[in-house]
Amino acid sequence: MNRPGKGTLVPDFAGLSAALQESADQMDAALERLLPVAAGLQGRVQEAMRYAVFAGGKRLRPFLMIQSAGLFGVPAERALRAAAAIECVHTYSLVHDDLPCMDDDDLRRGRPTTHKAFDEATAVLAGDALLTLAFEILAEVETHPSGEVRARLVSELARASGSNGMIGGQMIDIEAPNHAFGEDEVILLQRLKTGALFEFCCVAGPILAEAGAEHETRLRAYARDFGLVFQITDDLLDVLSTAEKTGKAVGKDADQGKATLVSLLGIERARERAEALANSASQLLTSYGEPAALLQALPVYLLNRER
Ligand code: IPE
Ligand code: IPE
Ligand code: MG
Ligand code: MG
Ligand code: MG
Repeated sequence: MNRPGKGTLVPDFAGLSAALQESADQMDAALERLLPVAAGLQGRVQEAMRYAVFAGGKRLRPFLMIQSAGLFGVPAERALRAAAAIECVHTYSLVHDDLPCMDDDDLRRGRPTTHKAFDEATAVLAGDALLTLAFEILAEVETHPSGEVRARLVSELARASGSNGMIGGQMIDIEAPNHAFGEDEVILLQRLKTGALFEFCCVAGPILAEAGAEHETRLRAYARDFGLVFQITDDLLDVLSTAEKTGKAVGKDADQGKATLVSLLGIERARERAEALANSASQLLTSYGEPAALLQALPVYLLNRER
């Protein structure tokens, strides 16, 4: 990011785009190593895990993790392992989100959803196995030599994924059509459903570096705003984009009566809200200087994303 004058940010989107691609490639190589190869009588579930993971996701969570770890000089292999864990949890959440009993979607990451390509039982099991694999990866000594640090990561990820995190958000999301939620409720829903995993990505850097509570708090605050920007833009894409571009069905939130800031505020005000949050997220990292430039640019970049 260039800094021409006091407080003025000119994001380097070309540099960001290249960095996103590079970290996605690194992530894919690490996931290739960490996911079980389909073998034996149980091979079908491992095949489904790989099908869901290697389908061309944007790998935004790994990017956040790698960048936040980079701020504190965490060795690349450790950051990549933690990033693989979060991508496993995220992919599991998508596999289950798409099931007929949830959002009932046929298309994900540009191809048939896992339950369509395999069957529902296999998709449920593949999701379960990705969730547990994430904790296996975090618990292994290669993730960090300190058992205390590994236990912190495990408990943070468990909290972020559980009933007061992503799962809690999914529960509220399912119940939303039966309620007239106001802004506060919708923001809580989004913070849990989407934000909690982003918080883990950002706080894992300072945890891996044992950098201390002050850094954790700052990165968490960034992740909170970032998560809302991300979910607002996801909800905008659902209204404004196409399945061809996003790789998943669009127009479903209104059909299913989902509570979103777009349905509540309208397109323009939701976009303005996302802009304000993107700027405040960026500002929160100013004190890290140039090493935080890509993290500062990312929420602004997401405002115009097409997928
Ligand atoms: C989609 O997440 C699910 C939401 C939390 C809205 P992404 O848009 O990051 O999905 P992939 O990983 O790129 O497929
Ligand atoms: C899903 O949110 C979030 C999780 C999977 C936790 P959405 O239902 O909006 O995600 P998409 O639009 O299907 O990717
Ligand atoms: Mg959903
Ligand atoms: Mg969905
Ligand atoms: Mg959506």
